[in-house]
Amino acid sequence: MTREERRAAHLETVYHYAGDVAGSDLLKREEEVPQHGSVSCYQHSLAVTVMSVRLASSLRLRVDMESMIKGALLHDYYLYDWRKEDTTRREHGFGHARRALANADRDFELTPIARDVIEKHMFPLNPEMPRYKESVVVSVADKICATKEVCRFLSAKAKDTAARRRFAPQAAGR
Ligand SMILES: [Fe+2]
Ligand SMILES: [Fe+2]
Repeated sequence: MTREERRAAHLETVYHYAGDVAGSDLLKREEEVPQHGSVSCYQHSLAVTVMSVRLASSLRLRVDMESMIKGALLHDYYLYDWRKEDTTRREHGFGHARRALANADRDFELTPIARDVIEKHMFPLNPEMPRYKESVVVSVADKICATKEVCRFLSAKAKDTAARRRFAPQAAGR
C-alpha cells in the first residue's frame, strides 16, 4: 500500500466513525482559524486525526476509535485567532484546551474519553495526566503534526528568503 493509499484508508476510517463531526459546518468554522504557518486549524485537526488513526493501528492498540477520532477532530476547537485576541501566547498555550472542550461540549455529544482527549492534548505543558490511551495517542499525534507544520513553514520561508536574495539582493536585506 502506498503512502497516499494508506492516508486515504485512514481518512475513510475517520469518516466512518465520525463523519457527522468531520463534515459538519460547525467544525468547518476552524477553516477561518489560522494554526501553524499557512495551515488552518481545520487542516491541522484533520491531520492530527489521521495521524492518531495511523499510530493506533500501527501500534495495534485497542482503542475506542469513535471517541478517539471525535476527540482528535475537536482537540483544537477553541474557535478564535489568538493573535488577534487580547491573549498572550502563554495564555493560549495553557488555556485553549479548556476552551476547546467547553465549545465541543456545547456543540457535540461527547464520551468521557473524547472529553479527556480534548482536555489533556497539551500534556505535558498542561500537567494534568491523560486518563486514557486514546488521549496519549492524540497528544503524540498533535506534537508530530505541529512539528511537521512548523518545519514546512520555516523551510518555505527560508526558500523564499533565498530566492529574494538571489533575484533582488537589496530588497531581501531589508
Ligand atoms: Fe492544541
Ligand atoms: Fe493541535
